[in-house]
Amino acid sequence: MKNIDSYNHVRGESIYLDDIPLQAETLYAAVYDSPIAHGKIKTLDMSEAKNAKGVIRILTAKDIPGENQIGGIVPDEELLADTHVHFCGMPIALIIADSEEHARLAVKKIKATFEPLPVITDPRVAKEKGELIIPPRTFQSGNIETAWKDCSYIFEGRADTNGQEHLYIETQGAYAIPQENGAIRIYSSTQGPTAVQRTAARVLGVPMNKLEVDTTRLGGGFGGKEDQATAWAVLCALASFHLKKPVKYSLHRMDDMRMTGKRHPYSSDFKIGLNKDLKILAYEAVFYQNAGAAADLSPAVMERTLFHCTNSYFVPNVKATAYSCRTHLPPNTAFRGFGGPQGMFVIEAAIAKAADELKIPASSIQEKNLIRTGEEFPYGQKADSEANECWQKTDELYQIKKLQEEINHFNASSDQYKKGMAIMPVCFGISFTKTLMNQARSLVHVYTDGSVGISTGAVEMGQGVNTKILQVAARIFSIEPSRIKINTTNTWRIANTSPTAASAAADLNGKATEIACMQILERLKKIAIEECVVTADIDKTEIPPFELKDEWIYINGKKTEWTWNKLVMAAYIKRVSLSELAHYTPPGIHFDPSKEKGHPFAYHVYGTAIVSVTVDCLRGIYEIDNVKVVHDFGKSMNTIVDLGQCEGGIVQGIGWMTMEEIVFDKDGKLRSNALSTYKVPDIYSVPKEITIHALETKRDNLAIFRSKAVGEPPLMYGIGAYFALRNAILAFNPNANIKFDAPMTPEKVLLNLYNEKSDQDMENGQSKSG
Ligand code: MTE
Ligand code: MOS
Repeated sequence: MKNIDSYNHVRGESIYLDDIPLQAETLYAAVYDSPIAHGKIKTLDMSEAKNAKGVIRILTAKDIPGENQIGGIVPDEELLADTHVHFCGMPIALIIADSEEHARLAVKKIKATFEPLPVITDPRVAKEKGELIIPPRTFQSGNIETAWKDCSYIFEGRADTNGQEHLYIETQGAYAIPQENGAIRIYSSTQGPTAVQRTAARVLGVPMNKLEVDTTRLGGGFGGKEDQATAWAVLCALASFHLKKPVKYSLHRMDDMRMTGKRHPYSSDFKIGLNKDLKILAYEAVFYQNAGAAADLSPAVMERTLFHCTNSYFVPNVKATAYSCRTHLPPNTAFRGFGGPQGMFVIEAAIAKAADELKIPASSIQEKNLIRTGEEFPYGQKADSEANECWQKTDELYQIKKLQEEINHFNASSDQYKKGMAIMPVCFGISFTKTLMNQARSLVHVYTDGSVGISTGAVEMGQGVNTKILQVAARIFSIEPSRIKINTTNTWRIANTSPTAASAAADLNGKATEIACMQILERLKKIAIEECVVTADIDKTEIPPFELKDEWIYINGKKTEWTWNKLVMAAYIKRVSLSELAHYTPPGIHFDPSKEKGHPFAYHVYGTAIVSVTVDCLRGIYEIDNVKVVHDFGKSMNTIVDLGQCEGGIVQGIGWMTMEEIVFDKDGKLRSNALSTYKVPDIYSVPKEITIHALETKRDNLAIFRSKAVGEPPLMYGIGAYFALRNAILAFNPNANIKFDAPMTPEKVLLNLYNEKSDQDMENGQSKSG
């Protein structure tokens, strides 16, 4: 089944925040944000701005009736800076005007002076200075101290990954409309309507039930609107609260890039120990997470880095420590993979380093160490592993050895171009690592004409969750998908929702929908047995099996004269409820942070990708030739949607690893602040070919209809692009001293192609390959 939004999308008829018809007297907001990364506000002169054309009011921290606090996990983030600013782009004042243009023009008329304070941008420096968001955490298994003694080889190194701009097509934005009795309706482009509601209540000092947050869909979120949509929605609500008028704010792209946080850059140290048979016996890692100026979701992101620090491998002795370091960058936040990719990059770097030193391909270490069913992750959960199956299937389908030989052959006969490939196994845990967040509700109404309306806490952001929820109801009721409508995500209909994140929205909200539909079906079944057996000529002494198939009722396998419509009407006439609000929470998950052990994930998603690239060794530019994947879908309930998620995730992951380069200068100013200076993959730079083989695994698990979560895991296949480029560079320049420092931009490729290579080496190298 196609994504139910596809028709409206291509016709431009889908509703996003900017498509909501504006009410009369709507006002427009714009933020005056800090021009410096750290300092004390000395003076704030708003007189000229106040008198500027169209300006209605300017709000500052003093105008906040409740708490000036938007920190979700740690209360360390002001909505509007009061006395100090902590990052370039921190909101200081909110201008409300009669037009967008007037609001933006007035921003430029605000004059402020600051007493600058020292700026930290490097997480290692922050850690040295004791600037930590939360105390460090360590995941441990086995005994790392004694394990080193048993290792034949030990390698150490450092690995860095940069941030990533979310670049959702729809920028952040919100629209608040006052209602009667002090209530406010907030349309928000958010992944977490409840987060908006809760935070707005805190800032305004009103109870949550006064705030209706409504989200139709997002033009992409990718984690960037899990927490960071909140500020803009709360600012609109604040203005609307004071002025009793509708207030809208949708950010200009450059404002969005400047003021919002991104994927966390990490700097990490690793130490890996192997025995003679290439078994990894010990692994130690220290992660320095660049959290930015406030906690935001950093503690949770850091936790997932630790969970995924050994990727798909079984390592008996592990010690991984992570520091969430406070710097003066915009607070970094969730981004597809949620810290997992950063953790995985480091162990892949450690393996690559070991392979280099031992002069063997990394794949021979990778394959030997894939986690098997029954083996334990460092956090105590036992694997139900598909890691080996994925790898073997990859080898069988794509023939790893043959691919490598073809590449070697090509490289031997080509001077200017060199190819490289890398294999990237992935293992990603599904569930919010904060156990309590794994809960969802679904409200299903069957109307008397047989049509169905569903509301859940899931937010549609292009990933197809609404399509999947609709499929759940269509399957349970066995009715035409066109008779089902998925409603907007709304905090008055569904309360206390977890954000749509952790790839878990389809599982959690789908299962809640399944339960709601099953309960309605049970009631309908009773009616059917009471009412329609008469016409079906069936022995009434036993309870006959009931079935709904393509909108017809079957009793005892025999088609009756009753349709879905007739049954629904009969239920209504008998005063039986046709509505249900169901609650779902996955069983069996738990985690004890005091021991850092438990069973945090409902299940894991596995997969293996081979990434192949060609480098132009004259120019440093490159192409991604192909990505060949075996991905564990469980049993996909929607292959079109799921393949789309895989392809999109892979391209986004490759972008992070290759061309997307965020640059902050030492003063904490974002230099890559526009699409002219920040390059994301376009149609010319996506892989020339992506092949995805669906591994069907029927293991009983907690995925909706055994269709495993797919939103985030494929992004991590993109990490293979980094290592493939590295191998291509090494094919040209075996002495290249390549740092593990992503992204591998064309500039870095060029520098590495020629680094530490004398003219003598160049000649030798060329004569060898020529
Ligand atoms: N796909 C699209 N098209 N747009 C998005 O914003 N977000 C990703 C992923 N796929 C995203 C996407 C992220 S970060 C997550 S956590 C999941 O979708 C969330 O949705 P799910 O739980 O329904 O998979
Ligand atoms: Mo996704 S990063 O969990 O929103």
